Amino acid sequence: MKKRILTGITTTGTPHIGNYIGAIRPALKMANSEDQSFFFLADYHAVIKNQDSDKIEKSVEDIALAWLSCGLDPKETFFYRQSDVPEILELTWILNCITAKGLMNRAHAYKAAMALNKEDADKGISMGLFSYPVLMAADILMFDSTHVPVGSDQIQHLEMTRDIAARFNHLYKPLLTLPEPIIQDDEKVVLGLDGRKMSKSYGNVIPLLEDEKVLRKSVMKIVTNSLEPGVPKNSDDCTVFDLYKNFADDNSVSEFKKQYENGISWGEAKEILFDAINAELKPIRSRYEDLIKDKNYINDVLSDGSKKTRLLAQEKISEIREVIGIKRIS
Ligand code: TRP
Repeated sequence: MKKRILTGITTTGTPHIGNYIGAIRPALKMANSEDQSFFFLADYHAVIKNQDSDKIEKSVEDIALAWLSCGLDPKETFFYRQSDVPEILELTWILNCITAKGLMNRAHAYKAAMALNKEDADKGISMGLFSYPVLMAADILMFDSTHVPVGSDQIQHLEMTRDIAARFNHLYKPLLTLPEPIIQDDEKVVLGLDGRKMSKSYGNVIPLLEDEKVLRKSVMKIVTNSLEPGVPKNSDDCTVFDLYKNFADDNSVSEFKKQYENGISWGEAKEILFDAINAELKPIRSRYEDLIKDKNYINDVLSDGSKKTRLLAQEKISEIREVIGIKRIS
């Protein structure tokens, strides 16, 4: 049987090179013609934390364009927006009805929010946040996904998905497929301009889709120590070197290491890093500039994607409705 690999992308913010290295590039590498790949924009997940409608809308477009520019082929994959497949929400409710509250009490994201909101936890935490893992389970179980690539922060959600599916299968009929996680153990922290983890909330990101000038400026802002040119430098514990490793082969990396030992100046080192990043991003950027010109492109891609995907979802949801005793009359 073909593997069905499913990846959900929460639509918050604009993608930066940390997202590219950590999520987009490895996911697209995994997509191949032997397996079926599902990539979806998890906009109902985004609504849990963000009630700014303009931001939600803009982010869906930015993220969709980023993935397409990076090489996602909507003809070879199922690429859709979660909210365009309402059967997912139908399944969410059905799963809510069989999920023990105690299971959700254990979710890390919920527990972290509880700890932050100690003062008045019940007020600060929405039902959406509380039952977030059920929505994620529905995303996965709707399509009989067999494999879900996850970072370490999502492993628990996948275990919960398996628990929920097993419970459904036990109560009704074995209709739901228990997914396997693909744990991305080489998942490494991508460092940002100030040496902390690259994250929009730290304001230390290197942009993915901005023009060359902005990219260069951003690379030049990486914080280094104040060693003069000619003084040997340590490549461990150096943000410039660390980022370079993501854009160069082993030979170039050892060459760069030698240049550090020989006292390369920070200006030169950053220039080399910029060239490496820019070489990889150039074709992506030029595709992005083409795609963004065509206002209808994104809508057309998403509309085709949801049509194709809904066919699967509709078939599955009618089987599920039938076993729980809610048949459609028409
Ligand atoms: N919760 C995931 C995240 O924050 C995104 C997501 C939503 C997802 N639904 C999913 C991931 C289903 C995998 C499968 O990264």
